[in-house]
Amino acid sequence: MVQVTSFLLMLTVALVAPGLSARKCVLTGYWMNDLGSNMTIGEVNEEGEFTGSYRTAVTATTNKIRVSPLQGSQHRMNQKGQPTFGFTVNWSFSDSVTVFTGQCFVDKGGMEVLKTMWLLRSHVDDIKNDWKAMRVGTNIFTRL
Ligand code: BTN
Repeated sequence: MVQVTSFLLMLTVALVAPGLSARKCVLTGYWMNDLGSNMTIGEVNEEGEFTGSYRTAVTATTNKIRVSPLQGSQHRMNQKGQPTFGFTVNWSFSDSVTVFTGQCFVDKGGMEVLKTMWLLRSHVDDIKNDWKAMRVGTNIFTRL
């Protein structure tokens, strides 16, 4: 009887402990990416929506860089606590818009990291120039 109880106890610990210790990835906070751009994300609400601000370190324009608003949406937390998300930055200093999509991970060292891909749509004066209006890339964000 004692052996059965001990076995059940060990089994419970083995099954429950990893779930308790696994850190969830949370979008809210201050982030910096591999280009040196900074981003602040506010609280994620019940619907998964969030707002924030973005200061890019680089621009495709000759305009003076200014802080720009962002609006996004996070998927419901999955079991591993590493949700997918997307957000749009409506650049305040240019006529462009960038959409980012990605996933919030906790890496092997327990650090949160946002792996994203983006599409930047620049404004062009003529439909003939549409072909050169899109840029695509990736960014990796770590917590500041
Ligand atoms: C513009 O140049 O019209 C607006 C700024 C675009 C900055 C881009 S968005 C994708 C990439 N990641 C960044 O942090 N900055 C650049």
